[in-house]
Amino acid sequence: MNILLLGSGGREHALAWKIAQSPKVSKLFIAPGNAGTAEVGQNVNINSNDFEALKRFALDNDVKMVVVGPEDPLVNGIYDNFKSDALTAHIPVVGPSKKGATLEGSKDFAKAFMSRHAIPTARYKTITVENIDEGLAFLETLKAPYVLKADGLCAGKGVLILATLQEAKTELQHMLHGMFGNASASVVVEEFLSGIECSVFVLTDGKDYQILPEAKDYKRIGEQDTGLNTGGMGSVSPVPFATPEWMKKVEERIIRPTVDGLAQEEIDYKGFIFFGLINVEGNPMVIEYNCRMGDPETESVMLRLKTDIVDLFEGIAEGNIASKKVVFDERAAVCVMLVSGGYPQEYVKGYPIHGIENVNESIVFHSGTALKDGELVTNGGRVLAVSSYGKDKAEALQKSFEAANAISFTDKYFRKDIGNDL
Ligand code: AMP
Ligand code: GLY
Repeated sequence: MNILLLGSGGREHALAWKIAQSPKVSKLFIAPGNAGTAEVGQNVNINSNDFEALKRFALDNDVKMVVVGPEDPLVNGIYDNFKSDALTAHIPVVGPSKKGATLEGSKDFAKAFMSRHAIPTARYKTITVENIDEGLAFLETLKAPYVLKADGLCAGKGVLILATLQEAKTELQHMLHGMFGNASASVVVEEFLSGIECSVFVLTDGKDYQILPEAKDYKRIGEQDTGLNTGGMGSVSPVPFATPEWMKKVEERIIRPTVDGLAQEEIDYKGFIFFGLINVEGNPMVIEYNCRMGDPETESVMLRLKTDIVDLFEGIAEGNIASKKVVFDERAAVCVMLVSGGYPQEYVKGYPIHGIENVNESIVFHSGTALKDGELVTNGGRVLAVSSYGKDKAEALQKSFEAANAISFTDKYFRKDIGNDL
């Protein structure tokens, strides 16, 4: 069958790499894709939010399935758009309905959903300019540090963690008065949870689910988790504390109640759920939901998934995911992200990239690259995701670091401490 994958980052290159290995696939199209996805499929120059153009392309090219990488098209309702159009209703979209994507698109919706279904998460209150006094009073009841989250999507920048009560009160005012535009017109004020984070992924058909390999990502730009937040500097799978006992708690307390809650509330959800979890004294709690895979988690998770991913996608489209079996690769997988110097602030694009052809022991996924006059150049903050297998984490990391050193571009930077905390 022909598949259309949406997106243009490292996550999408890793998904494309995995999808292209399926014997079920005849043609894989990626819209818009990047220089890396062009190596495993055919890029199509359509914006992933241009639903009319995507539908026309799908119909003209006998596309039998659409797989959505990033959150924007989902939050904008691509699932409902395809489904409600008689011409495209037969084409399954892997990803939730607009309502389902609200688990990521609105922090307030996600927190209220978790309250309704008794899913463990931090205590919270949602504040607007109308009830700001309640917000200030709630802050007084919490201990430092303080967590403020813009309700809406902010490209990963909408969470502030403040050391003092005074700062928290001031920033709450700033957020409500437009710090993140309309996205922070509502702010979730919540209790700070202390522990190590872990990303857990499932594919659900709305009734049942299959759990994919878990991963830990590294968000800060600096080593030892210092400096500004980024889109993600690396990832590691498996996560040592995600033992069978811990995962059983995750499944019973979080995954099953989430899927059952979606079904009970008649929220159409056939796609990935990404559970951003934190391990609080041995007990998993939810930090956030996302309606898509993680980036750069996907760049290690896809290496550890032995099962044909297209068979799993068919399972969610056909509503028989329960009958599928997911097999994990026993090896460890890691990803080290090479970024442009200056990222996540100002950086320069367009530097030539050399040395990828010398990398044999790692898989190099493209995040922000472009072809300029036939030459591969940097085209984003996060440039390349260097992923490797190893008999254990240490061996996989060694391979990724060797490859990271073998690849060159001006002002290249990567974190050398990925995985050290585990
Ligand atoms: P989010 O955008 O929801 O992923 O939040 C960004 C990051 O802020 C998370 O990955 C956590 O590291 C941190 N964070 C969010 N909420 C909390 C919380 N309640 N307690 C501790 N850390 C948090
Ligand atoms: N790695 C975190 C995310 O994709 O949101």
